Amino acid sequence: MTRDTRKKMPGHRSVETKYMEERAALFQGLKHLDRRSFLKVSAAAFGSVAASGLVTPHSFQPVSVAHAADSKLQPFTFAYISDSHLYKRTLNDRFVNSLLRAVDDVNAMDPQPDFVFYGGDLAQLGAPEELELGAQILKNLKAPVRMMVGEHDWYLDMGEKWRALFGQPTYSFDHKGVHCVVLNSVVEKDFWTARKLTPMQRMQTVAGLDNGVQSSFTVGAEQRAWLENDLKGKPANTPLIVFSHSPLYKLYKPWNFWTDDADEVQAILRRFNNVLVFHGHTHQMLSNRIGNIYFQGFLSTAWPWPYAPQGLPTLTVQMSRPDPFNPHDGCGDGSVTVQADGLADMVQNLWNRNPVNIPRTYLASNGKKDKPELPTRQSY
Ligand SMILES: [Fe+2]
Ligand SMILES: [Fe+2]
Repeated sequence: MTRDTRKKMPGHRSVETKYMEERAALFQGLKHLDRRSFLKVSAAAFGSVAASGLVTPHSFQPVSVAHAADSKLQPFTFAYISDSHLYKRTLNDRFVNSLLRAVDDVNAMDPQPDFVFYGGDLAQLGAPEELELGAQILKNLKAPVRMMVGEHDWYLDMGEKWRALFGQPTYSFDHKGVHCVVLNSVVEKDFWTARKLTPMQRMQTVAGLDNGVQSSFTVGAEQRAWLENDLKGKPANTPLIVFSHSPLYKLYKPWNFWTDDADEVQAILRRFNNVLVFHGHTHQMLSNRIGNIYFQGFLSTAWPWPYAPQGLPTLTVQMSRPDPFNPHDGCGDGSVTVQADGLADMVQNLWNRNPVNIPRTYLASNGKKDKPELPTRQSY
């Protein structure tokens, strides 16, 4: 078709024109993102998914649970969204669309979760515009949001903007009989001063996982002392949840799938009967258990990382190899239902695929019972 012929066709718009119009509408909507314009914006963002005929095969709902009357713990569900890696809106709208999709998923949950936990790496390069954009989008969640910091949010201004928007990165709260702790586990030793790096060079060094220049992530002595104090006097049967951006164990050092003082942190947690640790950063389904500490990784809304080359914890239910032609594949969000026994059933809501349920009985039996269904395609 020649350019002239195309011009004569009434109502015809090229794919590129349509894309640019949709993109303009998206960012116009984001400028004054009240509830009504958000619904319009997110409908535009997911139009392409609906048009391709892809529908999530099962609805994204946690299994409802019976309340155990003899427990102080009142079962509850929280949703999670993690690792959105937003760039400035003029550079990239793909990750904006993905975060909007996650917000829509969570807002569609019925009943609503008690809260939504954000797992860190809201921004890509810690820029104020990136963090503000993320905060603006997350405001559209119906349920209250709890925030955690990731390294991509932190190393441009050492957390100044993040703290101004969301408060202190280390805190604890109690919810329906569970004590919840949120840590900043991306504390690095100073590698930048001696090298005379600018703030942006520092940020970009941390953002490149395997450059060998940055130091390993830690929780650090100061927060470990805070944690000990926070847990002081709590009996061993206190149900405990710890949120940490990096996995609180040592998986693969070159990518910082690793926390250098994980052993020390685990030693503080070990005296409790059941500890649930949820982490972001690894952008993949990852399950592990060390004694009475259960670890679960969150999916990212932006991209899936490959699995670490040296192998995986044996309890990990491996997600399928993502389809490279589908930019949302391998991404998603999820929910966690904490049960009366202090353990949790998890739903990994992989976009455009069946959600994967990881029941607490699977982890508690060390994989002997209730093994989740294996994917039909092998992972990396
Ligand atoms: Fe991340
Ligand atoms: Fe991260």
